[in-house]
Amino acid sequence: MTTSTPSSLRVAQVRVDRRNDGAYADTPRPRLSWIVESDRPNWRQRAAEIRLDGSTIVLDTDESAFVEWPFPPLRPHDRPTLSVRVTGTDGTVSAWSPATTVQPAFLADGEWRAPLIGARRPATPAQPLLLRTEFDEPRPVRRATLYATAHGVYQVSLNGVDADDAVLKPGWTSYQQRLLHESTDVTALLTPGRNAIGVRLAGGWWTERFGFRGEARRVYGEHPAVALQLRLEFADGTSRTVTTDGGWRCTDRGPIVSSGIYAGERIDARRRMPGWASPGFDDTAWSPVEVSAVTTAPEPWLAEPVRRTGELKVAAIRTSPSGRTILDFGQNFVGRLRLHVSGPAGHVVTVRHAEVLQDGEIATRPLRYAKATDEFVLSGTGMDTFEPEFTFHGFRYAEIDGWPGDLDPAAVTGVVIGSDMKRTGWFETSDDLVNRLHDNAVWSMRGNFLSLPTDCPQRDERLGWTGDVQVFGPSAAFLYDCAGFLASWLRDVAVEQARHGGVCPRVVPEVLPKHAVATAGWSDAAVIVPMTLHERFGDRRALAEQYPGMRSWVETLLRLADEDLLWRGAPQLGDWLDPAAPPDAPGQARADKDLVASAYLIRSLDLTARAAATLGRIEDAGRFEAAADLARASFARVFVENGDRLVSDAPTAYALAIGFDLVEGGLRDAFGRRLAGLVGEAGHLVPTGFLGTPVLLDALVSTAHTGTALRLLAQTQPPSWLYQVSMGATTIWERWDSMLPDGRINPGEMTSFNHYAFGSVVDWLHRHVGGLAPAEPGYRRITVAPVAFDAFEHARCCHETPYGTAEVSWRRSGGQITLRVRVPANTSAEVLPPGSHEQFTVGSGTHEWTVPYPATAAVEECA
Ligand code: BGC
Repeated sequence: MTTSTPSSLRVAQVRVDRRNDGAYADTPRPRLSWIVESDRPNWRQRAAEIRLDGSTIVLDTDESAFVEWPFPPLRPHDRPTLSVRVTGTDGTVSAWSPATTVQPAFLADGEWRAPLIGARRPATPAQPLLLRTEFDEPRPVRRATLYATAHGVYQVSLNGVDADDAVLKPGWTSYQQRLLHESTDVTALLTPGRNAIGVRLAGGWWTERFGFRGEARRVYGEHPAVALQLRLEFADGTSRTVTTDGGWRCTDRGPIVSSGIYAGERIDARRRMPGWASPGFDDTAWSPVEVSAVTTAPEPWLAEPVRRTGELKVAAIRTSPSGRTILDFGQNFVGRLRLHVSGPAGHVVTVRHAEVLQDGEIATRPLRYAKATDEFVLSGTGMDTFEPEFTFHGFRYAEIDGWPGDLDPAAVTGVVIGSDMKRTGWFETSDDLVNRLHDNAVWSMRGNFLSLPTDCPQRDERLGWTGDVQVFGPSAAFLYDCAGFLASWLRDVAVEQARHGGVCPRVVPEVLPKHAVATAGWSDAAVIVPMTLHERFGDRRALAEQYPGMRSWVETLLRLADEDLLWRGAPQLGDWLDPAAPPDAPGQARADKDLVASAYLIRSLDLTARAAATLGRIEDAGRFEAAADLARASFARVFVENGDRLVSDAPTAYALAIGFDLVEGGLRDAFGRRLAGLVGEAGHLVPTGFLGTPVLLDALVSTAHTGTALRLLAQTQPPSWLYQVSMGATTIWERWDSMLPDGRINPGEMTSFNHYAFGSVVDWLHRHVGGLAPAEPGYRRITVAPVAFDAFEHARCCHETPYGTAEVSWRRSGGQITLRVRVPANTSAEVLPPGSHEQFTVGSGTHEWTVPYPATAAVEECA
């Protein structure tokens, strides 16, 4: 083993609570995190000094992530500067970090004053609007902050310039109880004298019809409305607030004629009104607005907003067999098109979107009732630029109808949108198919982490299905810093649990009443997701905040359980999309639903007991642990037969029993053998659905069936992960065979090509092939234990942990394997080189081992 030597020490990044796109404080006591970079081996923090404006506090702490606010609470309109300096256990002292300006994003209690305004007599439901006002302010403004929210989706523009680059503000939350407001510094957009505020507004999720088939209905409201207050601060310390009120004017004659999340948008460039959001515009033809109170005080965003996060060029233009023009972006993604086009006034260009082609035509059947169609009406006055503003689509292909003249591919851009989280995780191996699988999971996350974690982005769903994010959470937490994103969504989970007697519904925000029922694997998201945030980010506050919800879910489970503390006889989704289930009956899995539900019950009890212990709630911890032990004993009594089999002899049943630690010792080994045997009998094809898949490979590896795990991963026939890759998938599919081997689309009516649930395998890739896993919350201690599979020559896994960059890479050559590990400052790692029986504990720095290649996989396969 070799270790590199010292040179420098610095505080490289300071973060205020969870957001990465600015030092926003969503509470008066935000937590502080900093990343220390040091070349000194084993660097450990002994103390930190925090300077806020003039005052400095010395903290005798070795913690550098999510450190509790040490100062008096922030006040809403303060803008203090913050900097951090650290001292190591070796006596080294860093320089002060560059000053960061903290921006409180919250308002004081009662400070939200703005009412909602919308159309007075809207002609049609969900009618998009433009709204405007003007005001005079002769004094120079020292600082202007915009606070805005909506029943709908909006953008504010000041003197003709958009307030920021976020889209689809304020996102989707459980609107009845929880509305979010932005807090944007717009000082640069104001001018002394006359100023104008303009708002573009559409219905978005607020007016969308949710529900399946004929049942779709508006859940929140018929019409959009917006509320904003603009706070102006002056040099003399005084301030003034301009708000929405009855003096504003609005029109439904703006360029956005109609807009819907599922339907798409129609924009008429003839209706553009230059200068409408600038002072002096004649709005006498506009109408007075309807004013109504905001019933829920909006709260600040905890997470980064949705933004445009990338652009794609047209990869190919095709003419379909029926003569239609189809653009191929080479990548399934979420967003919309931006096009530059000129032609006669009133001429319409229509864009339809699809994820796949069938028989050379765009396949829209999987979209079900989502029209996903944008229409652009040309002005006839030269080049028009169009980009739908208040909708999005999941697509790789766009069919363009009515393009005037020849279509130059450079005139069309694919605009990618999604919650603008910071990328934190990378993985690659020597196998290109596996690399593509990993990329596909990244793209599915980019598309489905859009304001909230959704199942899919294209059909008439795009809902916060709780089971999906429950299984994908650990993968997500590696790929992007989604601590704020998921903590925000968990607040909606808490809201919905309170509305549903402790039950976390299948979708959050809850918009499908029939699905607001206790469901194993879905409702457990209330327990599992906060635990994931704690494990992966060290976010103890997320755990503390969500703990009442965790507790109320397990209390509910204990009420639902029978006298054996098992959960039997309830309607369940079960191991959803088991590949053996018929296309039109995705819930008909091999694994018994009662067994699956009981396994999840024990899992939630275990995790809640662990959370209670972490939070010092000893009594709860003891009670839930005892209940879990009883349920575990019943599980063995009721579901195990002949001493070594499960009554439900299905792969998911064994994988859950092993993965959730429901059995131990010889029985666990026997289950591992049976699981490997079943997988072998099934020809090494993936035999599990949504709930079995995330634990399948772990269950095999942890019972010494590594070779079987590898064969499953390497499989390219359906059902398998690499089957979809070999069929050209660029995102993770909902079904193992969303597309059949003959290129036809699965006949099931529920067939998406962008669903991250089966992408949960990437967490296993990171931990086992890459070999990087958290041993303590937030990767304060890291486990490095890659399995050197025969199939891979090398692998590399890198993660921006809350403490800095951790990286593991290994390469095989000439009967040896070289492992390199980079450990961030203020952390340590337990390293088990492949095949080695010796574990090493190392501190920060870069370390390297060379060991004989053990050929683990080959050995197990012969056994
Ligand atoms: C969604 C899923 C979800 C499932 C459960 C589907 O329609 O797309 O991903 O978890 O329903 O019923």
